[in-house]
Amino acid sequence: QTGLITLDLGYKNTGATLSDITYLDGDNGELYYRGYPIEQIAEKSNFSEVMYLLLHGELPTQDQFLKFEGGIKKYNYVADEMKKILDVFPRSAHPMGVLSSLTSALTAFNPKAVNVNSKEEMDEAAEMLLAKFSHLCAWTYRKKLGLSINHGDNNLNYVENFYKMCFRRPNMDFELDPVVVGALDKLLILHADHEQNCSTSTVRMVGSAHTGLFASVSAGISALWGPLHGGANQAVIEMLEMIEQDGGDVAKYVEKAKNKDDNFRLMGFGHRVYKNFDPRATIIKKAADDILTALGIEDKALDIAMQLERVALEDEYFVSRKLYPNVDFYSGIIYRALGIPTEMFTVMFALGRLPGWISQWKEMRLHNDPIGRPRQVYQGAQKRDYVDLSAR
Ligand code: SDX
Repeated sequence: QTGLITLDLGYKNTGATLSDITYLDGDNGELYYRGYPIEQIAEKSNFSEVMYLLLHGELPTQDQFLKFEGGIKKYNYVADEMKKILDVFPRSAHPMGVLSSLTSALTAFNPKAVNVNSKEEMDEAAEMLLAKFSHLCAWTYRKKLGLSINHGDNNLNYVENFYKMCFRRPNMDFELDPVVVGALDKLLILHADHEQNCSTSTVRMVGSAHTGLFASVSAGISALWGPLHGGANQAVIEMLEMIEQDGGDVAKYVEKAKNKDDNFRLMGFGHRVYKNFDPRATIIKKAADDILTALGIEDKALDIAMQLERVALEDEYFVSRKLYPNVDFYSGIIYRALGIPTEMFTVMFALGRLPGWISQWKEMRLHNDPIGRPRQVYQGAQKRDYVDLSAR
């Protein structure tokens, strides 16, 4: 310590705020949304209801739910001019870069959602963003595949509508596959909030300057893109494919990670808070097996992932550091089975995390949290006088 400043690189032991939204117990691997265990929520609830729970603090009555769903459907479209922005991106652009740009651009077309101060104004901006963001996520999928975009369908619920905006092909009958819709709904629930992770802390930090909700979320999308955070779900599949192409020798890659060869890490392993199983990973691992069976899909990546988990968790290096599979380790296997391209995996994480980001931003503003401004421990040059160029 120097003076009153305690150095805490990466905020490993810093409580940045007071929150009522999500509780994690890292030692026991427990996660609660507004007090409800994630295992019960994932089993019994649905994504739209979880959005309401995170935003309003209670499970909705039937009337509250219908009003909330109707409030989102009111905004189930995106300004045509936004499509011109999408069109200028090359098809090779990473969907997360497209998504963060389009999300920030939403501000220009919805100016009244910028300066929101009352709870009512925040709730309206939340419903607007929840609706429009699902379109932008579907747009990035269609862009990646070189397909024209689909418009929203208010006859469907939130997850069905997203699924249709992604997968409906021109001039073809469209049917909602309940296995796919159920899998999407469960994955979105499991990603919905996770207290003060990197991207949520980013949304809070940007929002603490009273920046608008859309621009604050756009910053969170960029933070989530990183391979150490939400980008890990894409990196896991790329790692599993590499191991498969290399003969499936998982022991070799466990050794590489232990020796830190070329800074190699087992992507999807380890967590800043969980020093036990990530409860989401446990649920997703079982869901992966069930969904692939229901869809009649064999994916070698699942076998390799399970072998990798077994070999790593028998190894002192991982056990002593309490490194377990996290939410990103198995999720990509399900996304791939649903026909979602690897580069879209982190967009799926963002769609799931959106209600969490919004709820945390709203709580930060309603609590009147001060603008975020951490200090540092300075270790640079001491005071010295300027030297003219002629004397250097
Ligand atoms: C998410 O915070 C959240 O809640 C995030 C999230 C959410 O829902 O928002 O849960 C989503 O981001 C999950 C994490 C996804 N990222 C990855 O899977 C990337 C791989 N994991 C690591 O990079 C790492 O585990 C982190 C980033 C997740 C956590 O890093 P920490 O807490 O800063 O831990 P560390 O880097 O200080 O590692 C401690 C030790 C080191 O070894 P030693 O210095 O003691 O020798 O553990 C080692 C690390 O080298 N280590 C790993 C490892 N993760 C940590 N070694 C091999 N493989 C790994 N994956």
